[in-house]
Amino acid sequence: MAGYLVDDTRKVTTNRLMDMKKQGKKIAMLTSYDYTMAQIVDQAGIDIILVGDSASNVMAGNETTLPITIDQMIYHARSVARGSKRALVVCDMPFGTYQVNAVEGVKNAIRIMQETGADALKLEGGAEILDTIKAILNAGIPVMGHLGLTPQSINKFGTYAVRAKEEAEALKLLSDAKALEEAGCFALVVEKIPTVLTEKVCQSVQIPVIGIGGGPADGQVLVVQDMLGMNKGFAPKFLRRYADLHTIMTDAIGQYITDVKEGDFPNEGERY
Ligand code: KIV
Repeated sequence: MAGYLVDDTRKVTTNRLMDMKKQGKKIAMLTSYDYTMAQIVDQAGIDIILVGDSASNVMAGNETTLPITIDQMIYHARSVARGSKRALVVCDMPFGTYQVNAVEGVKNAIRIMQETGADALKLEGGAEILDTIKAILNAGIPVMGHLGLTPQSINKFGTYAVRAKEEAEALKLLSDAKALEEAGCFALVVEKIPTVLTEKVCQSVQIPVIGIGGGPADGQVLVVQDMLGMNKGFAPKFLRRYADLHTIMTDAIGQYITDVKEGDFPNEGERY
């Protein structure tokens, strides 16, 4: 498989991710929402591609992740699955598709798996949705948990600030992490929690813990547009920018506009 930046070109599976934790190998995860980006991210050698419901913000310009629908997530996930060969593709279950009850949750989970070609699903929450997670797992669908800052509950939290700073919330998060592991989740995302709590979670479960704004963990996840510097406005402390694509793209588009307006494009070699 030409183009991969990693030696191991085998398809990433949930079992291999669990082995990576055992072997102390870190897991790299990024979001993608479309075919072209997924191809680039996959061929660079990423382990997991998340079709995050952050598509609601990044692709559709919404304030929160709440408005994105199951049909829209299916469209994004299907495009990403077509563009990915090696990475494990995980699709977020969007708000409202699994909170009502386990039966509805399983129906929607099966629909997403059937219509997208994703390898696994991610759901936000712990004890509150454990029955639904177990039912989805019983249907043979791998589940990744998501604890800490869970953006689908933003209206309950009222803020995107760091979660679980107080002991009670930290203890609940630890017990949720154990419960998700016991239920059979293959991995867990922890978002925006104190570094010491992330360390405790990583030590207390055998499944990989993927952090975002949680300090060192078994792996890390970022929104790809954020780490590529396409979005100038979003600059949380945890975000490392690996490129300034906003400037590169703006300059390239500006040059194109100039070339068109000055009659420089298309030149002799760019015509039939
Ligand atoms: O939707 C998303 O992009 C996510 C990550 C931030 C973990 O859930």
